[in-house]
Amino acid sequence: MYQERVVSGMRPTGALHLGHYHGALRNWVRLQNEYPCMFFVADWHALTTHYDTPDVIEANVWEMVIDWLAAGIDPQQSTLFIQSRVPEHAELHLLLSMCTPLGWLERVPTYKDQQEKMGDRDLATYGFLGYPLLQAADVLIYRAAFVPVGEDQVPHIELSREIARRFNHLFGREPGFEEKALAAVKKLGSKRARLYLELRTLYQEKGEDQALERGHELLDQAQHLSLGDRERLFGFLEGSRKLILSEPQAMLTEASKVLGTDGQKMSKSYGNSIAMREEPEAVVRKIRTMPTDPARVRRTDPGEPARCPVWQLHQVYTDAETRQWAQAGCRSAGIGCLDCKQPLIDAVLAEQQEFHERAQPYLDDPSLLRNIVADGCDRARKLAQETMRDVREAMGLTYD
Ligand code: TRP
Ligand code: SF4
Repeated sequence: MYQERVVSGMRPTGALHLGHYHGALRNWVRLQNEYPCMFFVADWHALTTHYDTPDVIEANVWEMVIDWLAAGIDPQQSTLFIQSRVPEHAELHLLLSMCTPLGWLERVPTYKDQQEKMGDRDLATYGFLGYPLLQAADVLIYRAAFVPVGEDQVPHIELSREIARRFNHLFGREPGFEEKALAAVKKLGSKRARLYLELRTLYQEKGEDQALERGHELLDQAQHLSLGDRERLFGFLEGSRKLILSEPQAMLTEASKVLGTDGQKMSKSYGNSIAMREEPEAVVRKIRTMPTDPARVRRTDPGEPARCPVWQLHQVYTDAETRQWAQAGCRSAGIGCLDCKQPLIDAVLAEQQEFHERAQPYLDDPSLLRNIVADGCDRARKLAQETMRDVREAMGLTYD
């Protein structure tokens, strides 16, 4: 059976913090048990905004991969690689750029937002405008079915879908397509073939979206189809084009939000973050000095957890019983803030203990890390090359 693939990337921003872990990485760790997963360091993406400080990127790449492994990403199950080591991403980006309307890129919400937010940098560059297209190439080159991302990235995946559709429409012509598609239909077996053709008629003549969806399911379950036949059948279901690039879907994480020690979004640049592999003493210090409900000036003043950033962390780290205790103790002034923080400190330290343990072998022997990434890059390159062969052929670039 055709395995639906998950692809996601992260910019190398240096040591990851608990916000990254609970917001994204924990989800990656879960996904690797369910799908073949490809996770990559988006180093070119980092250059789209930080082209003037490239030196920080290199150290960050390795730190970040160590954090992935520390979180429990298993290199036996997942493919870990670095974007720039698979230059096919750049080739696909270039080829897609030929048929991407400028307006599609200018309309991506992050384009104007980020330019305004990062006012200190000059982001009126070609690379920055094209970065959602680079992201589309990252995903389309592996024919990803699902892309786990945060909400802010959903428009980028939407753009990837539109690009795939446009590409297939423009370049999915194939001489003798209809005959080849009908031959592929036969390979489904007579029962499935009949159902497939019925669903195709329902969709094409009556516009029933449900029929299209059921058709996709049928094809997802079909076995022993070559990639070419699969593309033809997906394309034939909707029209008369081969589907060379498949449309990915954003997979929104129901992530628990870990806020920073000041109750704002956790971010290294705000100075409110706790790193995944923070020194234990620093964890203790950072949590002990966290601001609490300002109403609790003295130990005897009652407080309200809803106004306290420490309470936010309890939501993620402690069990219902402890939260009950903290809530009641806070409101009655039965406990002090340091008491309230202790179970949190214990929970964060316990979680980090595992991170430190998983990271240690790679800190002791960096060649282990290099080998994992080298293997991942080889695997990724192979898949990317397969797609590029089809893309070049479709665009008339084979010349043989
Ligand atoms: N743009 C993403 C970010 O800034 C990172 C990224 C690059 C990515 N390529 C991707 C995420 C492909 C998912 C899929 O966070
Ligand atoms: Fe915050 Fe806990 Fe102090 Fe209440 S007791 S203010 S929840 S730290």
